[in-house]
Amino acid sequence: MRISRLELAFPAGAPGRALILGADGAEDLSPFDPASTLIVEGMAQHHDALKARGFRVATSAEGSFDTALVTLPRAREAARARIAAAAAHLAPGGALWIDGQKTDGVESVLKEIKALGGISDMQSKAHGKIARIENPSRIPADWAARPLSPAPGFTTVPGVFSAESVDAGSAMLAAALPEKLPTRIVDLGAGWGWLSAQILGRPGVARLHLVEADHAALECARANVTDPRAMFHWADARSFRLPEPVNGVIMNPPFHTGRAADPGLGAAFIQAAAGLLTTAGRLWMVANRHLPYETELARHFAEVAEIGGDNRFKVLTATGAGARNRRTR
Ligand SMILES: C[S@@+](CC[C@H](N)C(=O)[O-])C[C@H]1O[C@@H](n2cnc3c(N)ncnc32)[C@H](O)[C@@H]1O
Repeated sequence: MRISRLELAFPAGAPGRALILGADGAEDLSPFDPASTLIVEGMAQHHDALKARGFRVATSAEGSFDTALVTLPRAREAARARIAAAAAHLAPGGALWIDGQKTDGVESVLKEIKALGGISDMQSKAHGKIARIENPSRIPADWAARPLSPAPGFTTVPGVFSAESVDAGSAMLAAALPEKLPTRIVDLGAGWGWLSAQILGRPGVARLHLVEADHAALECARANVTDPRAMFHWADARSFRLPEPVNGVIMNPPFHTGRAADPGLGAAFIQAAAGLLTTAGRLWMVANRHLPYETELARHFAEVAEIGGDNRFKVLTATGAGARNRRTR
């Protein structure tokens, strides 16, 4: 747990106005006083949980801070962008700290920063490291986030899912969709919007709800999908509800929580999809072939079938959600 590193780095608590870039909703942040700490966190569920704990939480940094703590994300370009953002919001004489797991590449990032201007107060604990950057003003300006172009007409930023190219699973799902689609559709975990754009390219769709927990990805989707039939929802798909049921859900669900594989996340997406659909409505989804989603699908839907795939992915469809409730429309 990284609290042990934070306690070593801030034995008397983090001084002054503090900025944290990236935090888990449930983690122990006791060295940080909620009254003087701003947390920048874009994943909806963590954002909401931190807010409920009394922290000020935002999706981008604003103001200047005496202490800034960067939690390293896994993607190198996203890590650099986060460090540049923290350096840009540091008050004169402020302290910039980097914290990360070894598996997220903290050692190579710290090595790079050491060569730029030095690091100090390094602590190693709980499979990770924390260190202070000696000369934050030496962080190169070109570390700031720069837009990427994963496909013609689409833009993304480092760190969002499949930022540099169209995901192969999403491409397979799009190719397996029927020519005509239902009128009201939800794309659960819509990312930067490529799959949604393919859905809107099929006849029949009157309304498409894009549901995505990652604020940065959803902002990309807003830029990429300008069709007026699209509605954007920054939300945790697992608890997302609409006032009226829809007749189609299309999804390429995540199966990782952080670095750890978590098939439970996909199962929760299936449950959420069933809760959004009419009984006559239909789910289409893609999954890595090894993930045992058929059992979860059978729990929530009357009919389940595999309609495509290869040795890596399978495309599944299901209908008859909540058949016992008879909500057909
Ligand atoms: C496998 S990706 C698919 C993205 C997109 N549909 C595409 O085709 O590129 C899964 C998406 O689910 C999002 N996600 C992860 N957990 C989520 C949650 N609890 N609620 C909503 N979206 C979530 C991820 O940020 C990611 O964009």
